[in-house]
Amino acid sequence: MLKVLIADDDAGIREILTEILQAEGHLVACVSDGAEARSSLEIGDYDAVISDMQMPNMSGIDLLQWVKANKNIPFLLITGFSNLFETKQAFQLGANDFLNKPFTRKDIRESLERVFGNAVEDSERYYCRIPIEDFVSSSGFQVNVYAKLSDTKFVRVAHKGDQIPTERVETYQRKGVNYLYAKKEEFAKVVGFNLELSSAISSSKGITQAKKIRFLKYTSELVLENCFVNGLDPESYRQASQCLEVALSIVTENEKLFDTLEMLNRHSNWLYAHCLGVSIYSVMIGRKLGWKGQSTLFRLAIGGLLHDIGEKELPIELVTKPREKMTHDERMLFETHPSRSKDLLLNCGLSDDIKQIVHEHHEEGFGQGYPRRIVKQKMHPLARVVSLADKFCYHVVKSPMTTEVCAPETALARILAYNDDLDQKEVAALKAICKPDLAVEKLS
Ligand SMILES: [Fe+2]
Ligand SMILES: [Fe+2]
Repeated sequence: MLKVLIADDDAGIREILTEILQAEGHLVACVSDGAEARSSLEIGDYDAVISDMQMPNMSGIDLLQWVKANKNIPFLLITGFSNLFETKQAFQLGANDFLNKPFTRKDIRESLERVFGNAVEDSERYYCRIPIEDFVSSSGFQVNVYAKLSDTKFVRVAHKGDQIPTERVETYQRKGVNYLYAKKEEFAKVVGFNLELSSAISSSKGITQAKKIRFLKYTSELVLENCFVNGLDPESYRQASQCLEVALSIVTENEKLFDTLEMLNRHSNWLYAHCLGVSIYSVMIGRKLGWKGQSTLFRLAIGGLLHDIGEKELPIELVTKPREKMTHDERMLFETHPSRSKDLLLNCGLSDDIKQIVHEHHEEGFGQGYPRRIVKQKMHPLARVVSLADKFCYHVVKSPMTTEVCAPETALARILAYNDDLDQKEVAALKAICKPDLAVEKLS
């Protein structure tokens, strides 16, 4: 049982906190401003203080400084998205934990456990970085949003579904805040991936994490080296590679998917580069089509990343052979790779639509593709985008089958010359990436 002092000028908050803390078996005293809190602390013995940030007479930050100078007790601060900088300042001044309104009984219990030492340490590994620009004009984010205070301290600054004010995000952006954070486990669900991170972490061997970090670093170098082509819209490219970075950090938490990607790279480094390229270009096309939803863009990123993993089961001589030189049997074998990719994704926790994207990436508009020979209208819309990005990457990402890496416009011209079944809107989106000066509508 703890004796807790609550300082908040909002009677409603005092009431809720009192109710929760009493139900948890603690003793509670309440005051409505900072100066009153200081007086109470001077005369009484308390085990912890829970304080609001903005209060009359003495602010939460001033009260925190006074407590840290005069009392040896934990200080919990009530915070929110609008107090991001104050939260960081409070952490540096010694605030022990943070509560983000509206809180539940579980939030309070967990916060006290963190402060009084029974909780597992937070780790950067549980979170993924989200570029702050993703929050601009976002109508409610689908996960809880966190700010990073240190490698082992993250604080929730917005609840799932909260309307985050655009002006506030823009102010933070101007002041140099580049990223906010989401829990990987929660974020994975939004993008159609069921990830149980705590069990993945406890069952993984120590070496895996170091190996993974090396692999991800290598991947980002490979992306820069192979996938960026001069003449592309650089802003679209930057946003899409950030999206891929987050997708990879989530997908590789699954041991099976991590091993699959690593094996794909060992099988042929250019094929892995091709998959990274398809992922990035799919996201770029998706964005130009006006798709803004996190779940859509990340499905594209993951579908693109995994579309060709089935090729790792085929002989390398076959995979690198130009299609026109393949015998009938070789072509039949090669055309099994989309189904192989899909099968490799069974029991990985990925949603069915990601498997469908992977399965359909070689289907064609008039039904002349493979493996199921379905027409454009029957294809998953995201599979069509991945399929277009796949064609484009064949020309712009180095591989044994590409004699020369083309400029984006040349690649586009070649695609159009060989395919008369493409969706005009999708082609216009690709054109807009290749010719950033022109708007999509002018091209369509
Ligand atoms: Fe393929
Ligand atoms: Fe491919």
